[in-house]
Amino acid sequence: MTGPATAAHVISAEVGGTHFTVHIGDGRLEHLGPLWAERAAGDQALVVFDANTASHAEAAAASLRDAGLRTHMAEVPPGERSKSLTELERLCREAARAGIRRADAVVAVGGGVVGDLAGFLAASYQRGVRLVHVPTTLLAMVDSSIGGKTGVDLPEGKNYVGAIWQPQLVVMDTATLGTLPARELSCGFAEVVKYGLLDSIELFERVEAWPAPLPGPGGPLLDLIRDCVRHKVEVVTQDERETGLRASLNLGHTVGHGIEAAAGYERYHHGEAISLGLLAALRIAGHARKLDPSWRDRTRAVLERHGLPTRLDPEVRTPDILAAMGRDKKADATALNMVLLDEPGVVLLRQDPPHDLVVAAIEELRA
Ligand code: GLY
Repeated sequence: MTGPATAAHVISAEVGGTHFTVHIGDGRLEHLGPLWAERAAGDQALVVFDANTASHAEAAAASLRDAGLRTHMAEVPPGERSKSLTELERLCREAARAGIRRADAVVAVGGGVVGDLAGFLAASYQRGVRLVHVPTTLLAMVDSSIGGKTGVDLPEGKNYVGAIWQPQLVVMDTATLGTLPARELSCGFAEVVKYGLLDSIELFERVEAWPAPLPGPGGPLLDLIRDCVRHKVEVVTQDERETGLRASLNLGHTVGHGIEAAAGYERYHHGEAISLGLLAALRIAGHARKLDPSWRDRTRAVLERHGLPTRLDPEVRTPDILAAMGRDKKADATALNMVLLDEPGVVLLRQDPPHDLVVAAIEELRA
């Protein structure tokens, strides 16, 4: 499934009946046009981007134009607020005015916000057009560009309207990571740590050994990104719709989402909340299951080394976190549905630990 360990990696997958390839390498953006032209699809592309990814979007469009496509540029404001039905309508109308048809492509150039919004545009405009992801953040590379989750937020909740819509091509140019702020890179690394814990002791130890500051040397980081992507592709191939195994990817997200929401989505970025959520999950697994506490200590050390929070802000109140966890759309009416571990790579789904243990794990984050 994986290409040779040289400058670029190629992972092929078929998820929910859609075949796609993921290309990972330094300078891959200039290959976007030829790679898309191989799919023999329509002759137009709508490139969606934000102000932070404008130069990458221009490079993507230039490569597509060189390959013979007509390109249209659609800029959205940076930030989570763009994941709205209003912005979606605006993009649908831009696509209509540009004459985008079903065989044409929506090309999402950016991080998770651009990917989720442009992905839902591709899923819904004319009942679905082709989708290309060009993730430019570490978080989008290892997580949100793979698996087909797309959507927008409502005032009542994040990602409350959306669809599963698989891309037909994913191009990750690791050179784009060199332009990211350190905080953004660290946030992506929290998901890399998650994949290490989910996959195996071997991957966890390679993640643990990764030097700060990020992104560090390109070659081996490509290998880490490849292995996170490979893990996610294997999971979503088996369970596209999150009826079982895919829920494992929510490790650290039950408490993490609670912290993110209780802090009003301002104090912590997503990856920072997941850093705290991972530590809470490992604490719970140490008591409710047989996870050796040393895994939590090691995880805490690697998160700290990469500038991620391991102590919870005292102003974020435990009752607010617990209330937000109950509202999370992944919790059902009666159970938390947490993901726990017995050791890295040995994952337990649908765990409903005692309430006191969850409270103690949150409180311990303040110690
Ligand atoms: N980010 C978790 C998932 O894609 O299922």
